[in-house]
Amino acid sequence: MEMVGVSVSKTIRKFRRKSWCKLISSGFLLIILCFLSVKSQLLYRETWSPTRYSSSSFYLRLPELGHNNRNLQNIVLYGGVRHGKPGVPSDKLYVFENTRNPTLVTDQGKVNRKTDSLYLKNMEIGRNRRLPQAIIIGVKKGGTRALLEFLRVHPDVLATGPEPHFFDKHYHRGLEWYRSLMPETLPNQLTIEKTPSYFVTKEVPARIWKMSNSTKLLLVVRDPVTRAISDYTQIRSKHGKIKSFESSAFLHNDTSQINVSWIVLRIGLYIKHLENWLSVFPLEQIHFVHGENLVTNPGEEMSKVQKFLNLKPVITEKHFFINKSRGFPCIKKKISNKRGHCLDESKGRKHPDLPANVMASLRRFYRPFNERFYQVTNINFNWT
Ligand code: A3P
Repeated sequence: MEMVGVSVSKTIRKFRRKSWCKLISSGFLLIILCFLSVKSQLLYRETWSPTRYSSSSFYLRLPELGHNNRNLQNIVLYGGVRHGKPGVPSDKLYVFENTRNPTLVTDQGKVNRKTDSLYLKNMEIGRNRRLPQAIIIGVKKGGTRALLEFLRVHPDVLATGPEPHFFDKHYHRGLEWYRSLMPETLPNQLTIEKTPSYFVTKEVPARIWKMSNSTKLLLVVRDPVTRAISDYTQIRSKHGKIKSFESSAFLHNDTSQINVSWIVLRIGLYIKHLENWLSVFPLEQIHFVHGENLVTNPGEEMSKVQKFLNLKPVITEKHFFINKSRGFPCIKKKISNKRGHCLDESKGRKHPDLPANVMASLRRFYRPFNERFYQVTNINFNWT
C-alpha cells in the first residue's frame, strides 16, 4: 500500500515538473513571437508607407531624408509595371501601375494586402504626413497669414496652423519632428507651412534645399516703409510702452542717419535677403506675391499663386468679400456661402501717423534697394 502511495506521488511530481517546463517554454516562445511581430511592425512603420491612389495604381513613398533606405534596396514587385528605381534615396515617389494586388518583397519579407494591416490601411486611405512641398518664407507683416488662410480654402491644400520655425529655431530636432507637425494629406494634396522669419535667416535656404531641392517658395512683399510701421505697431501692441519709432529708426535724432541695425528696418532690405536665397534657389522657384494687391485684388493674386503651385484654379475673386468695418478682404469656403472667414484683429491694425520728414527719409533710404529688387525679380512693385 505504502509502495503504491510513493509511486503515485512520484508520478504527480514528475507530471507537475513537466507541465511547469511546458508552461515556461511556451511562455518563452510567446515572448519571442511577440518581440518578432512588434519588431517587424516597427520596421514597416519606419521604412516605408505604401499608399493606394487609384484602383489600378499604387504609390510607394519612400521616407523623406533622415531615414535609412537600406531596407528598400531589394524591392521586387509582382504583378505590375514599376516606374522609378529602387534604392534612389529620399523622397522619391514610386508608382506601381496596372496592378490590383501587388506583393512587395523587401528585406523584411513579403508584404501584401493580407499580411500587413498598416499597409492595407495606408493603401486604402492614402493618408500620410508629408514634408511641405511649398513654404511661405516671408516677409513678416507682408500679408503671410492672409495668403495662408486664402490657400487653405483650396481642397488640395493643407497647412500647419502655427508657424513651425523648423529651419530657423528647431532645426536640431530633425526632419521627423518637422514632419510630425504636418497635417495628414492624400498623395494628390499639397502640404504647406509659413514661417516669415525664414526669409531673413541666413542658414535657411541651404537647409530647405537639403530637405528637397524642388520645394516651392512663396514670398509676400509689401512697401518696406509700411511694413516697418506695421512691424513696429505689432511690437508696441505686444510689449506696451516702447521707444518711439523715430528714436529707434534714426541715429542721434537725425532723420538723415538711418539705424540700419534696427531689425524692423533691416527686414525691408528685400534685395539683400533675396540675394542670399538666390545663391541657393533659382529665381523660378520663388513666387512673389504683391502684398498691396493681395488686399485690393485678392482674386488676381490667388490665381497667380495657384498657377505657380500647379493647383486647379479653384479660388477666384468670387470667393472674396470686403469686411466693411475693417476694409480688408475675407474669404468664403464656397462661393454660395453667405458667411466667410476674416482674419482676426491682430491683422489690419491702425498704424501711427509719422511726420512727413520721417516718411520721406525712409522712402529715400529704401529707394535704391527697391529698384534693385524690381530688376532682379522683373516685377515693378511701384512703391514710391
Ligand atoms: P497690418 O496689421 O499692419 O495692417 P502678416 O500676416 O504677415 O503678419 O501680415 C499682416 C498684414 O497683412 C496686415 O498688416 C495687413 O495689412 C495685411 N493683410 C493682407 N490681407 C489681409 C486681410 N485679408 N485681412 C487682414 N490683413 C491683411
